[in-house]
Amino acid sequence: MAIEDKIRELVELRSKARLGGGEKRIDAQHTKGKMTARERIEFFLDDDSFEEYDMFVTHRSHNFGLEKQKYLSDGVITGHGTVDGRVVYVFAQDFTVFGGSLSETYAQKICKIMDQALKVGAPVVGLNDSGGARIQEGVTSLAGYAEIFQRNIMASGVIPQLSAIFGPCAGGAVYSPALTDFIVMSDKTSYMFVTGPKVVKTVTGEEITTEDLGGATTHAVKSGVSHFVAETEEEGLLMLRKLLSYLPQNNLEDPPITENSDPIDRREDALNQIIPENPNKPYDMKDVIELIVDDGEFLETQRQYARNIITAFAKFNGMPVGIVANQPNFLAGVLDINSSRKAARFVRFCDAFNIPIVTLVDVPGFLPGSGQEYGGIISHGAKLLYAYGEATVPKVTITLRKSYGGAHDVMSCKQLRGDINYAWPTAEIAVMGALGAIEVLYMKELNEFETLEAKAEFVAQKTTEYNDKFATPYQAASYGYIDDIIEPRNTRFRIIRALQTLATKKDTNPPKKHGNIPL
Ligand code: HXC
Repeated sequence: MAIEDKIRELVELRSKARLGGGEKRIDAQHTKGKMTARERIEFFLDDDSFEEYDMFVTHRSHNFGLEKQKYLSDGVITGHGTVDGRVVYVFAQDFTVFGGSLSETYAQKICKIMDQALKVGAPVVGLNDSGGARIQEGVTSLAGYAEIFQRNIMASGVIPQLSAIFGPCAGGAVYSPALTDFIVMSDKTSYMFVTGPKVVKTVTGEEITTEDLGGATTHAVKSGVSHFVAETEEEGLLMLRKLLSYLPQNNLEDPPITENSDPIDRREDALNQIIPENPNKPYDMKDVIELIVDDGEFLETQRQYARNIITAFAKFNGMPVGIVANQPNFLAGVLDINSSRKAARFVRFCDAFNIPIVTLVDVPGFLPGSGQEYGGIISHGAKLLYAYGEATVPKVTITLRKSYGGAHDVMSCKQLRGDINYAWPTAEIAVMGALGAIEVLYMKELNEFETLEAKAEFVAQKTTEYNDKFATPYQAASYGYIDDIIEPRNTRFRIIRALQTLATKKDTNPPKKHGNIPL
């Protein structure tokens, strides 16, 4: 064959591969409002940066007549490209080929790019849209999943792993995205569950729709499995690009510092007024975050889940940080099971990838009650404590208002290796709030009053006494637990200077195989 013919053959094969399962199935995908795997990759990566691997791979199965049905690329598109000029490995499941279901060779294609990403030290992004294990392949498909899971585990904490769910993701297939760092789900067109509605009905009798069982809203609000909901696939892909802009390529690099034009000494007088006179009145912690970070811009993770704590990426003078902040506007910012789990995983992610943590504290304590105790708040709260205590990245903590009891310790206090701990003059750092303390300290006296008025007067007097002594940051500052008490309006500048000072911080943990975080 002449070289021209060989090249023509190559071009033809490539065109064939690009058609995946064929025009009809591509049209069907578009009719559902979904992009194809290749369109997703094209949209996600920088223009013309995609280098595809394994376009000529096909499955090797001879079961159920499958040998007569072969498609180049076999249902998953793999390769690498760049996002803002930085290398990213990517795979996209192609629903037009056997419903994106996973075969032995398909799994090998994903494993190949994961192995290479780990060697190169670059993130892996998976775009999921699949009917799960390819039924005709049987157990080799299960083995394929397990090969991917093993790589997810080995890559965890070494390279960022991000997932988007743009279609079905069911059965054991959910566990690969679950092992990655962040999950984006497209609203109304994606779902994730271990067992679908039909099996649920058969086994438990419960009737539930696909959307209610495993749609994007369910996982954003109820389970916390997904970190971001996107109205469209395009929005989801842009979210992934944005997320990558805060992250280093791997655990041996620092996160990327970008040019910043927002003055580092920008004073915000509004912060001096943000804490209400009445200590029981809420305010929106997001207003505080917006006023202190570069250009008021931050990317919140799990925005609709455990809203009593905020976890977000932002920048200070162009330097990426992870922000963990109690939200007085929701459940008074109390720590409970879900908020502890949410923040603990975020803190560990930041620590794994050298992202400094800024903690904004306004926490009345842990949520009391049998529901929390039976649910294991002891273990879950300990996760957050553990995460902060093991983290060696720079940790800057600002106490805005309440910081009570165990929750004070948990929220990156000095003794958990908090590097720089500042408080606003409005801070209240104590074992518990005044009313609770007075009930304990004066239980006997409180039972002996003859009139309610006399009792109320006593309580008011003791409350003033208690608050004068403890509802301030000065006792903590007198012990050096708080490094300085700062004017709220200077918070941005003080945080930036703290982060600049800590940029060369080194800290280590004792050598061990791994710790035993209370999972
Ligand atoms: C082989 C599959 C497939 C699968 C879909 N297809 N899922 N082929 N193995 N798992 C094929 C269909 O035969 C069809 O082929 C094409 O993909 C599109 O599927 P449709 O059913 O027409 O699409 P839709 O109506 O959108 O429904 C999508 C779906 C449904 C909900 C995903 O296809 C479905 O329920 N599939 C089976 C899901 C399943 O049970 N998977 C195994 C789960 S167990 P044609 O030729 O008509 O285009 C599992 C274990 C993993 O995954 C364990 C890991 C540890």
